[in-house]
Amino acid sequence: MSGARTNARLKKSLTKAPNVSDQKKTSASREKRVFKPSAEFQRQANLGSLASYKKLYAESVNSPEKFWGRQAKELLVWRKPFTSVLKWKAPHAKWFGGGKLNVAENCLDRHLGTALENKAAIIFEGEPGDVRTITYKQLSMHVCRLAHVFENMGVVAGDRVAIYLPMVPEAVVAMLACARIGAVHTVIFGGFSSEAIKDRINDCKAKLVITADGGWRRGKIIELKPAVDRALEGTPTVQSVIVLKRTGNEVKMAEGRDVWWHDVWKGGPNTHKAKAFDSEHPLFILYTSGSTGKPKGVLHTSAGYLLGAKMTSHYIFDLKQNDRYFCSADIGWITGHSYVVYGLLSNGSTVFLYEGAPNQPEPDRFWQMIDRHAITILYTAPTAIRAFMRWGDNYVLKHRLDSLRLLGSVGEPISPEAWLWYHKLIGKGRCPIVDTWWQTETGSIMIAPIPGAVPLKPGSASLPFFGIVPKIVDEKGKEVPRGTDGKMIITKPWPSMLRTLWGDDERFQKTYFGDYPGIYFTGDGAKQDKDGYFWISGRVDDVLNISGHRIGTAEVEAALATHPAVAEAAAVGRPDDLKGQALVVFVSIKTGVTADDKLKEDLRAHIGREIGSFAKPDSVRIAPSLPKTRSGKIVRRILKDIAAGRQVTGDTTTLEDISVIAALQTQD
Ligand code: PRX
Repeated sequence: MSGARTNARLKKSLTKAPNVSDQKKTSASREKRVFKPSAEFQRQANLGSLASYKKLYAESVNSPEKFWGRQAKELLVWRKPFTSVLKWKAPHAKWFGGGKLNVAENCLDRHLGTALENKAAIIFEGEPGDVRTITYKQLSMHVCRLAHVFENMGVVAGDRVAIYLPMVPEAVVAMLACARIGAVHTVIFGGFSSEAIKDRINDCKAKLVITADGGWRRGKIIELKPAVDRALEGTPTVQSVIVLKRTGNEVKMAEGRDVWWHDVWKGGPNTHKAKAFDSEHPLFILYTSGSTGKPKGVLHTSAGYLLGAKMTSHYIFDLKQNDRYFCSADIGWITGHSYVVYGLLSNGSTVFLYEGAPNQPEPDRFWQMIDRHAITILYTAPTAIRAFMRWGDNYVLKHRLDSLRLLGSVGEPISPEAWLWYHKLIGKGRCPIVDTWWQTETGSIMIAPIPGAVPLKPGSASLPFFGIVPKIVDEKGKEVPRGTDGKMIITKPWPSMLRTLWGDDERFQKTYFGDYPGIYFTGDGAKQDKDGYFWISGRVDDVLNISGHRIGTAEVEAALATHPAVAEAAAVGRPDDLKGQALVVFVSIKTGVTADDKLKEDLRAHIGREIGSFAKPDSVRIAPSLPKTRSGKIVRRILKDIAAGRQVTGDTTTLEDISVIAALQTQD
């Protein structure tokens, strides 16, 4: 059936029946339907039956070394074969010991001289509408040239390189050029402020920074270079900055430090002899928020990470050679690392990259691009899906979307309402949805349905990937009965797990392996149903998930503490229909400071400067003091109730001053 006819039908049925997105929440929340893979999908699937999933899963957990050893041998290109599969001395893992490989070679060179050489590796669409297609051969030449540039600048294996770029192909080139020479990249999301850039650069002591004269977002230029300039006032280790011309925006170039990408690029060799590195050679550091202190530098290494990213991409996205795959996550997050760059390119796929906002110029930009580029797989986040639902079905129904064959979701729990809307409006009832649960720390997807094999239940990430053994436990680590909420742990090591926190192994051990000694604690709450499906409810620690962005309440509190008007601050989340969670901050101010709207705005701007504008709170509430116990501990439970507009529950008798509750409740 043609896409236009499908749409006409859908439109008709939607005008007769209540719109899916308008249905009462309760009806979808009680959704109990199970969506089995269609025979048509199963026939073409990389893994096409539940029985084959179960068989392979059983092997992967019963004989993990045999299983992972075979996968690593078959899927990766080795310069020197590994001699051991796993050395595990909890919490430290060493995978594929004795082996040597080059990650960039696994993503590029291995496809050269094959049918993939002239295939598009990247199709890029800038926000203003500029389109570029880069073949595997061209991408490889770009990467080789930049690898030489890095080497000429004195960057050697093990050095850290910070990347602060918009979503343009050069971001991929920069990451792979690092991998090629064994330099360790740390990509910093373009929404982070100069303070955040400075902290990250200083933590990992980066030598080189790669940035741009700007990027396009909602028709405006994001000023990346001035943010880098401010950050670099306090970063003694940075020797050079490479600046990409993207927007033509005028920027200041520091003599002796800054060079234009196109200048250093000119005339360099297109080939580069890549060295091989140990399996455990560091590949990248990615900073992420935790429940205490500053962001943590999650360290991923080469072979295990690449294997996880490659294998999950193949099975969970059911990748085929003619797929055109669009992941809407920014390269600055782990999703962009694993499912824009490493997992997809190592599989020889075509990746579609989009620079800008989903509603620029209109809220149907994604659907336009999907039709224009015949995208077959879309991987996005529930927060985006909720925004699409809010913008209205008509923006979707204008487009065919008949090239799509698979949809993915990541970053937060997807409600059955959003799942059903995504399935019906975007997937036209035809495309399976893979709800993928994982984390920066896990490196690759841990729980998700393999689409040709595992029946889907809206709202559940379903069953674990091969080799992954999650369990739901109580505080003491005892497994809880099926159907009971508990904390999610992962009991066996897996190849793409984080290896440590950069420069702070003690924090690594304590954060992830401290609650349940020797066992990885995810920080998430979940339950398992009678069929073994996992239903993840979200963080059980003080980490918020705002529009799919992970933000630590401690980080926000530390930022507020540096404001001269603030005596004390606490940050909590409240449920939000669009963002999943919204950030509410409670502040007590110093005597003599006036609590007015200007101060609230000033505090929001301050957080924007300290962390990034995406972390600006939705609500700021000011009171003479915060609810505390007599021993001086802020009672966060009460603040969460107040933020959510709920009646304050639980014991309040231990509070030092009960009147502060009323003072905080009366503000919006
Ligand atoms: O709470 C879980 C939530 O996102 C957290 C990890 O965030 P981050 O490291 O930024 O990585 C996001 C992208 C992988 C998890 O601890 N989360 C992620 N995916 C899901 C999810 N919650 C429920 N369902 C998911 N599919």
